[in-house]
Amino acid sequence: MHAYQPVDNEEANAFISSKERLYESPTPRLQTTVLLVIIILLSFVVYIQIFTQDTVRESTTVCADRTRDPPRIASRNEMGHALQADAALDGAELGVQRGIYSEILLTHWKRMRSWHLVDLWGQQENYFDIANVNDIEQQKIYEEARDRLRSFSQGNISFHRMYTSSASHLIANNSLDFVYIDARHDYCGVMEDILLYWPKLRPNGIFAGHDYLDASTVKSRNGQDWGVCQDSTRNDGAVKGAVDDFVSTNHLSLHITTDEWPTWITRKPQIICE
Ligand SMILES: C[S@@+](CC[C@H](N)C(=O)[O-])C[C@H]1O[C@@H](n2cnc3c(N)ncnc32)[C@H](O)[C@@H]1O
Repeated sequence: MHAYQPVDNEEANAFISSKERLYESPTPRLQTTVLLVIIILLSFVVYIQIFTQDTVRESTTVCADRTRDPPRIASRNEMGHALQADAALDGAELGVQRGIYSEILLTHWKRMRSWHLVDLWGQQENYFDIANVNDIEQQKIYEEARDRLRSFSQGNISFHRMYTSSASHLIANNSLDFVYIDARHDYCGVMEDILLYWPKLRPNGIFAGHDYLDASTVKSRNGQDWGVCQDSTRNDGAVKGAVDDFVSTNHLSLHITTDEWPTWITRKPQIICE
């Protein structure tokens, strides 16, 4: 049997507190650090999971190019048939003059639902074109166009007597199946019409225009100078230059008719992603 030995109190307390220190939980600062590290690690894991899921989702998206070929017609006079075969409904002609080309189109394009006719029917400065006659003549030409197109009743025909740039605000984007550009023939004018009216087309819409020629070719044919832009700068590319630049920038396929005054034709791409 052990005899009872009185213990020195101070010694005992020191012993107990050193034991407590050994087993006590980490300081609050250490706890916070550990917690932060855990949160960062978890966030990293969640981020990696989301990222890899997105990559999988992206890699399963399939895009198909559904753009049809531009109509391979020999002459612009076949365009009405092409529009009919294409099930085109809505379109616009920029530069109408006497309405002669509209008449040819509408004779065969029986499905036409809406047809916008845009022409200033007024004389312009700095425009060296045989169509740029004085305002008295322009008024007669305008009346002639109205008479010529009166009999077409298959759809709604609207006359917009204004600059093509102004009329572009009246036509909604993505609302046309066909645009024919035949207003100004200098590089800047054609490029302006191209850029303003391209957005009006629906996917697979037909984009075309008259006189795919450069300024020197036209000058040698009949003396017109299509090398002068409205702001007096020169660009001898004229219609051909503007069309070529647009088509190559946008990687479009281009068809040219064999008319003496050729028509250029392309299509707005239709890309479908699923
Ligand atoms: C060559 S004629 C159009 C011929 C018509 N497309 C045809 O084949 O029967 C050009 C017409 O465009 C018009 N025009 C030219 N520049 C224009 C512009 N910036 N805005 C509106 N009309 C314009 C002229 O008034 C002219 O009547």
